[in-house]
Amino acid sequence: MDFLDDLRAAIGADCLQTGDAIEARHFGDYMVKSDAGPIAVALPRTTDQVAAILLLCSAHGVPAVPQGGLTGLAGGATPVAGCVAVSLSRMRKIEEVDRAASTITVEAGVPLQMVQEAAEAAGLLFPLDIGSRGSCLIGGNISTNAGGNRVLRYGMARELVLGFEAVLADGTVLTSLNKMQKNNAGYDLKQLFIGSEGTLGIVTRLVLRLFPQPVSSRIALVALPNYAAVLDLLGRARGGLGGTLSAFEVMWTEFYELATTAHGVRPPLPRGSAVYVLLENLGADPDSDAVRFDGVIEAALEAGVVDDAVIGQNIREGRELWALRDSVTEFNRTYNPAVGFDVSLPVARMQDFVTGARAALRDRFQAIEAVWFGHIADSNLHINVKLMPDGPTAAEISAIIYGRVREFGGSISAEHGIGLLKKPYLAYSRTAAEIAVMRRIKAALDPAGILNPGKVFDHV
Ligand code: LAC
Ligand code: ZN
Repeated sequence: MDFLDDLRAAIGADCLQTGDAIEARHFGDYMVKSDAGPIAVALPRTTDQVAAILLLCSAHGVPAVPQGGLTGLAGGATPVAGCVAVSLSRMRKIEEVDRAASTITVEAGVPLQMVQEAAEAAGLLFPLDIGSRGSCLIGGNISTNAGGNRVLRYGMARELVLGFEAVLADGTVLTSLNKMQKNNAGYDLKQLFIGSEGTLGIVTRLVLRLFPQPVSSRIALVALPNYAAVLDLLGRARGGLGGTLSAFEVMWTEFYELATTAHGVRPPLPRGSAVYVLLENLGADPDSDAVRFDGVIEAALEAGVVDDAVIGQNIREGRELWALRDSVTEFNRTYNPAVGFDVSLPVARMQDFVTGARAALRDRFQAIEAVWFGHIADSNLHINVKLMPDGPTAAEISAIIYGRVREFGGSISAEHGIGLLKKPYLAYSRTAAEIAVMRRIKAALDPAGILNPGKVFDHV
């Protein structure tokens, strides 16, 4: 029998799309589409079915590309030639909320927003939050070690996982649904699968950490004269809020201009300041939280650190302030085509980077348009550069940006992963020894090289 017949026999025709029945969405993630698409899409309902798929793929030397919500920005879930796409989208069970352990156990195909809502229904918080919350799946979030807007308080996806289950290339099911925060019994194997973008195994179930549901939130937008003031404000907010600061989103002037003009967001503060910061505090006591938060902002105003500020007085005003930052998800309307970057840099040197890269881009092409923004407390800078008919190519722009990231000792991927798009630059941020160890781990766990081949680094 040929491979597809074997596969159909193993998991059932209702769990397989082939030929014209393959839905177009499985051809790529948000950024990278493949021309040919997969030879089949497998839609398993159980871990055992995932194991059966991978066992067959290993036996036949057929690549398997795991897929979640297909919202990735680096091509990690994009099909490679001749592959089966393994979509986790039918594994959507929320298995348990354990209040005493403060955990939730879910299958990998649950959308992030459903995890958040299930936690909320139990009076708890699952803090991971990114713009694609409605479409992305938790298994993808964990496989790519997603970040987002609240990392400074709750950590990356990696820090939110206590237990996991994954299927290896040879069909081995690794089940470790640990709920205990302390567990030093040997290697912490789950960390190998978190952030390795489906190259070592397919994550099927997760035990995630939950936190107390905040009862108060307070949000401010402030305008500042320069980046030194941003760092001053960050110190004040961290110190003054005693660890309840939950977002510190920085937007340089070009971002604010674009969002409040072409994208129609009402400007909460006048345009033209060098830099703007959105601060969010999540706390447990509305009255005292507001006093503390407003006190930090007022003191920064009095000290001349902040030029202007607006504080959201209610939920609606808070949402409006977030809409300014979230409008970036619409920027592809005006910046299309564009090239995007997700880099990490030493926080203290962020402005040197922005100033130098901005000048280098302008030197190359005077009329260049770019926006600069990011989760600066986590060292994460995003840059979107518009591609223009007479301007530099994406490759030229990448050389300018990544060359500088290397000089600064930064990372070419902060939170979006490597996938296909960033692969040529991996060695800018990892040593030859590090990449060699990655290769050895890959060879040990997937000797036939069938799991997401060619992603992150060249496996052979
Ligand atoms: C953001 C995405 C681009 O922070 O990571 O908006
Ligand atoms: Zn981001």
